[in-house]
Amino acid sequence: MRIVSGIQPTGKYHIGNYLGAIRHWIKLQEEHECFFFVADLHAITLPQDPEELKKATLQKIIELVALGLSTERCCLFVQSHIQEAPELAWIFSTITPIGELERMTQYKDKKNKTKDSANAGLFLYPTLMAADILLYKAEGVPVGQDQLQHLELTRETARRFNKRFGETFLIPKAMVPELGAKILSLTDPKRKMSKSDPLDSQILLLDEPDAIRKKIFRAVTDRGTVVSYDPAKKPGISNLLTVYSLFAEISVKEVERKFAKKGYAVFKKALADLLVRKLEPFRRKYAELASRDVYVQEIIKQGAKRASSVAQDTMEEVRGKVGFLQV
Ligand code: TYM
Repeated sequence: MRIVSGIQPTGKYHIGNYLGAIRHWIKLQEEHECFFFVADLHAITLPQDPEELKKATLQKIIELVALGLSTERCCLFVQSHIQEAPELAWIFSTITPIGELERMTQYKDKKNKTKDSANAGLFLYPTLMAADILLYKAEGVPVGQDQLQHLELTRETARRFNKRFGETFLIPKAMVPELGAKILSLTDPKRKMSKSDPLDSQILLLDEPDAIRKKIFRAVTDRGTVVSYDPAKKPGISNLLTVYSLFAEISVKEVERKFAKKGYAVFKKALADLLVRKLEPFRRKYAELASRDVYVQEIIKQGAKRASSVAQDTMEEVRGKVGFLQV
């Protein structure tokens, strides 16, 4: 299968990004043709400091490699290096009804937060996402739950384009994990863990052991003392159980059994120890790669080259179908 997915460079990567998406990318690259990118074009839908954005984009490529993405097994690139993506997004914007974009919950949330400063890019965001995916004729898109609505719009865009201009795009499938598709905030377990929220609500992949222990210790749990999985009644402890289960690679039931009669404090300590141990190799690898500038630049160049060649083929076909004069 051909697989495509992206992640924004802003904020710091947290365990939600890892468990909901990146963890699957690492597995998928072993068996499929994968294209993964850092979505800097999407990032500028909110104001960014240009120098900080450059730094963050580079840092995120390093993080992805440190986590296990390998350039021998996948194509890793920076979204803005592929000029065809905004071109295709523009074409998609002309076949997408305004009403459909207005229904996007992420747009509504961000618009409410930014009030009068909301820009048109925020509104068109899903058409760019559709272009990112369809440009590579992706069959599967591994994402967390919060991207499902955008994926549905992408599928509709592909259908609409095919109907109007002839069969061109495959209809991609969202690949959402059964467990971990929505890791919740540590301080408010009714909401998803989010890069734009205060740092004590998230475990960052690059957090030092001390920070991990403090955050887990302070994580909001629910009334009672029994470590049991009940997302509706006990969202806090169920979220921590999910995290434990995924990092330890054992089922939630087994985690429950392991901590039966042990209480929240023992469970939290064990979870913090587990996270410290599991994230340690990543911190080490990141530090090692951070000083290898030339190597990382080469990865980015190679990624752009490979992604461009696929993107150019698709756009040549699209331009002809839409009716752009080619000379
Ligand atoms: P972004 O950068 O917000 O998130 C990257 C990936 O992490 C997942 N995720 C989570 N999963 C579980 N629990 C959480 N708390 C959590 N928070 C984030 C997201 O679902 C996502 O899979 N618009 C996208 C980037 C993008 C993209 C694309 C993705 C641009 N073009 C094309 C797929 C295909 C975004 O902002 O993701």
